[in-house]
Amino acid sequence: MTPGRRARRVLLLEAWVAAGEDLLRAAAALGVEAYVATHEDVHATHYGPELTELISGVAFTDFGDTAAALDDLTAFCRARRIDGVVACWEFLSPVAALLAARLGLPGHDPDRAAACRNKRLMAEVFAAHGVPAPRTVTAADHRTLARRAEAAGIGFPLVVKPAENAASIGVTVVTSAEGLPAAARLAGSETHKPSHGIPLDTTLLAQEYVEGDEFSVETVLTRGEVHHLVVTEKFTTRDASRAETGHTVPARLPADVRAAVLTAATRAATALGLRDGVAHTEVKVDGRGRPHVIEVGARPPGDGIMRLVAEATGIDQARAYLMTALGERPDLTPRRERAAAVRFLTAPHAGTLTRVEGLPRGDHVVSTGLLKRPGDPVGDPRDNLQRIGHLMVRAGTARAANRAADEALDAVTVEVSP
Ligand SMILES: Nc1ncnc2c1ncn2[C@@H]1O[C@H](COP(=O)(O)OP(=O)(O)O)[C@@H](O)[C@H]1O
Ligand SMILES: [Mg+2]
Repeated sequence: MTPGRRARRVLLLEAWVAAGEDLLRAAAALGVEAYVATHEDVHATHYGPELTELISGVAFTDFGDTAAALDDLTAFCRARRIDGVVACWEFLSPVAALLAARLGLPGHDPDRAAACRNKRLMAEVFAAHGVPAPRTVTAADHRTLARRAEAAGIGFPLVVKPAENAASIGVTVVTSAEGLPAAARLAGSETHKPSHGIPLDTTLLAQEYVEGDEFSVETVLTRGEVHHLVVTEKFTTRDASRAETGHTVPARLPADVRAAVLTAATRAATALGLRDGVAHTEVKVDGRGRPHVIEVGARPPGDGIMRLVAEATGIDQARAYLMTALGERPDLTPRRERAAAVRFLTAPHAGTLTRVEGLPRGDHVVSTGLLKRPGDPVGDPRDNLQRIGHLMVRAGTARAANRAADEALDAVTVEVSP
């Protein structure tokens, strides 16, 4: 910081989520004061010393009521002279854009912000702008959904999902008409985010199923300029549910397919009015090498992907996000060409966790962690919430990172009873 100049201040919308701690650490490293907007009970329950020691102040609000939260946070930001607004969590990316716009701070287009969280609106924006994406129909009940899918020529298999959720919650690949009622029930079952009481649009989507490999594109935007940092290879379960089981940076892709994936991600980001901040764009590539955008999150990637990016390229995406939110231009030059991979431990079936052993050690291990202990109940790995832990490794190439990660995962024992 220049002597005599006050430290710049950012407001992080909910730092108790995947990317929150990385953003808080990046703020500390930048000499930026970090303030956090959260709920009083979430703060009391989930903010341990590792987070609170990085925080300069807290704004309590209720994200379940967007209009009231916007008023609260506008007043807080004005009083504290906040210089930038950052969304740590997908569910708050629209509030972040609206708040930044109200305050005249850098951010994404507030008029299209809702479409970054709501997949019904996102599908409309993609269709209107010619973004390559699966055809989508929507309805409030499974019978209407079936009728509309048929009328649109969307056959089986198709994907049923809720308009608003994340972490693969409520997403089902449905292979025949008989599967539709159960898939619709599952998609409609979470009406509010349990942690914050944020109401969710449970409108049902039926989407063309895209068979192929899955990737995500990690992006930083400065004043509407799109800078793609990496393409990430993604691994998911392959049955009716599609939980994410791992990620590797960089993805190994032929140059022309990589270029097509990046072009699709740019078109999606532009269509959604993304301007200043970050984006995480999920893309499936079909057997002919054509990209189909599954969704865009106007927020940092979760699942440790920012750490994979840092390991593989030396680029600090959290730092870059803070800088764009403050109206500055981050340096996005890669410092190295390496690779890193994360894999998630899951239970073989639902039950009680009895034993986890054999997590990897050594110089190639970036981190390991467990979310559950012996005695904890564990579920089938149908969505990302059922994970037991993770392991992350680094290597010289993506091929070596995938091999090391898969070997390490094979060597882990997860036992569940009964
Ligand atoms: N139209 C589709 N075709 C093929 N797979 C899909 C499709 N939509 C979703 N999936 C699979 O389901 C996963 C979760 O769906 P997604 O739309 O990304 O919801 P979420 O917001 O829960 O991540 C995706 O990562 C992908 O593997
Ligand atoms: Mg997704």
